[in-house]
Amino acid sequence: MTRSILVTNALPYANGDIHLGHLVGYIQADIWVRYQRMRGNQVHYVCADDTHGTPVMLRAEKEGISPEALIERVHGEHLRDFTGFGVAFDHYHSTHSPENRAYAEDIYTKLKAADLIDIRAIEQYFDPVKEMFLPDRFIKGECPKCGAADQYGDNCEACGAAYAPTELKNPFSAVSGAKPVLKTSEHFFFRLSDERAVAFLRDWTRGNNAAGTRRLQAEAANKMKEWLGDEGENKLSDWDISRDAPYFGFEIPGAPGKYFYVWLDAPIGYLASFRHLAEKRGGIMVEDYTDAARAEATGTEMVHFIGKDILYFHALFWPAMLHFAGYRAPTQLCVNGFLTVDGAKMSKSRGTFITAQSYLAQGLNPEYLRYYFATKSNGTMEDVDLNLDDMIAKVNADLVGKFVNIASRCAGFIVKRFDGKLGNVDPDMAGEFSAALGAGVIAKAFEERDFSRALREIMRLADIANQYVNDHKPWELAKQEGAEAELHTACTTALNLFRDLALYLKPVLPALAAKVEDFLAIEPLVWTEVWQALPQGHVIKPYQHMMTRVERKQIDALLEANRDSLAAPAPAAANDTDHQNRKSAKGAKAAADGGAHSEQRHAAKQQHAAQDKETASTTISIDDFVKVDLRIAKIVNAEHVEGADKLIRLQLDIGETDEAGQPKPRQVFAGIKSAYDPATLVGRMTVMVANLAPRKMKFGMSEGMVLAASDDADKSSGIYILSPDSGAQPGMRVK
Ligand code: MSP
Ligand code: ZN
Repeated sequence: MTRSILVTNALPYANGDIHLGHLVGYIQADIWVRYQRMRGNQVHYVCADDTHGTPVMLRAEKEGISPEALIERVHGEHLRDFTGFGVAFDHYHSTHSPENRAYAEDIYTKLKAADLIDIRAIEQYFDPVKEMFLPDRFIKGECPKCGAADQYGDNCEACGAAYAPTELKNPFSAVSGAKPVLKTSEHFFFRLSDERAVAFLRDWTRGNNAAGTRRLQAEAANKMKEWLGDEGENKLSDWDISRDAPYFGFEIPGAPGKYFYVWLDAPIGYLASFRHLAEKRGGIMVEDYTDAARAEATGTEMVHFIGKDILYFHALFWPAMLHFAGYRAPTQLCVNGFLTVDGAKMSKSRGTFITAQSYLAQGLNPEYLRYYFATKSNGTMEDVDLNLDDMIAKVNADLVGKFVNIASRCAGFIVKRFDGKLGNVDPDMAGEFSAALGAGVIAKAFEERDFSRALREIMRLADIANQYVNDHKPWELAKQEGAEAELHTACTTALNLFRDLALYLKPVLPALAAKVEDFLAIEPLVWTEVWQALPQGHVIKPYQHMMTRVERKQIDALLEANRDSLAAPAPAAANDTDHQNRKSAKGAKAAADGGAHSEQRHAAKQQHAAQDKETASTTISIDDFVKVDLRIAKIVNAEHVEGADKLIRLQLDIGETDEAGQPKPRQVFAGIKSAYDPATLVGRMTVMVANLAPRKMKFGMSEGMVLAASDDADKSSGIYILSPDSGAQPGMRVK
């Protein structure tokens, strides 16, 4: 059976760069799409920028350009980044498009006709200077629970409390600084609490895709249970889908000054992008994928790849919206976990907040990352850790050491000794390899998005192929008299195994597979699980190097390029985090049912937590502070550094010893030459950051940092290193 599948990726916000965290989900989807196509299934793969909302509007204003100009620029950057990583959408659209407006209006109108839209007055904070209602993330004040200053309107980063913006003490607008006032306005609600919606969602939660894979992963299905409650229960609350002017978005038909909330038209952007593709390409029956009855009749699928922070929108609002407007609901959600780097949140100060662009600019092969992410993707919602040393080890061992190595050890002989012509395949090996292939194991793993398992299988096969090469040693056969036929068979067999491995790696490593296809002079590889040799006499091309090893120093340079030593001020909300139906206390009452609010708030909180990974905030929690290991240090030596204008080399005793128990001072290069004569420093006590990642400098390793005061605006006012009160001993913790 040939499947027809519309596949989408979450639409990235049009006000931020694509980073490696984003790429987890995009690479997973791209691999799955390529696999489906190799199987002969028909796939339409689309995405778009998510352009609407307050943050885009404010950012454009700040840059002094129109929102349209901003989103156009970002569109180009995003598309460049995805293309660079081999994420090959059939079309990359924008939610600020005529197709999207048409779909949004149509869906809204149909929901209204189905009596699922309500209008209610709610009271919210309003910025009287800027003359706009403020999303929660644009209101700051003191935490009502712990009193911490400078907290956002929805939850406190110091104590973790969640609250309504109206509960903040001394609130102010993060946009203008003004004291916000409460103001009432009418909002439009999608009546998700309607019994019909609840019943539909219960039913939708169950269900499989055409290959028998569950519509929702186990963790997602559990979340749904939690959100929907037990049979007979109704925990859902209605969803606020409008925002007041000024807003960058689509005005609601018949409601001047009211706009569709960004999260209403964002998923509709999937359909808009697909519609645009169909018009561009021709021959695609859009309604077969979008209309409920047509989709049912034709058996098409609609599969969304999303991150775990936006499950709520895709598993509740989106299917219900579609269904009650007569559109088809999604057949499957593929939800990915969040990316950590070396076990920690991505961080600008550590340089692990790595943009897609910086990775490519560094000249790193994008397929290193595709491969590594694939080895860590098992089809669940678990978080994914990018361990940089592990990535280097895996890429070098698996791709260069195991895969490419097969060809590089055998191809030369075919070209030099046999005019590039392949010979016979060793029948024993053919049998062994076919048996090892197993029936459909790799395919099943790809279908279930357990790429990690698929790659383990493929590497097991690569081991068999390498063992074969090691056993037959073509480089020795080549030197032996009369071993011509044996050499021909050994190299031919190995290259046929190589070709088969390339086939299975192709969804993950399309560029590498293309090089193999070119080198072997074969048609694009398609999926097959029957091992078949290339015909005898088939002529291959001279072998060209296919992939180089990745070196730690390249990764260090990447971290350096992303390190922001001043990593700090996050503008109030870099993204639209006013994602939920969150309202002022009064508004919550107006929504008439409390139950799901806390849940929505919780989902919103998760969303914020996710986004805080990406933007350091102006305040930090005590947890952040204690990560900095400050120690009293004694300067045991200080000297000028040959060839450095600003640096002094310090040896700092912080009580550390080597294995023999001898004092082992740290070496630190400090930019204080203009202010100190090294001789006057020796013997002084100061304060150092002891857990800063060591940094390789031109003059040697720097293993920490000394604290010093200076006036950033007036360099001539000098540099002053800190001193503790007398009595402090080397190694004492400073906090
Ligand atoms: N604009 C919304 C999605 C609308 S879909 C109709 C959005 N944009 S986003 O730019 O914040 O995120 C885009 C995708 O990247 C989402 O699937 C999100 O979950 C994912 N990720 C963003 N940061 C991530 C990590 N650090 N790790 C893994 N995925 C991450 O959400
Ligand atoms: Zn607090």
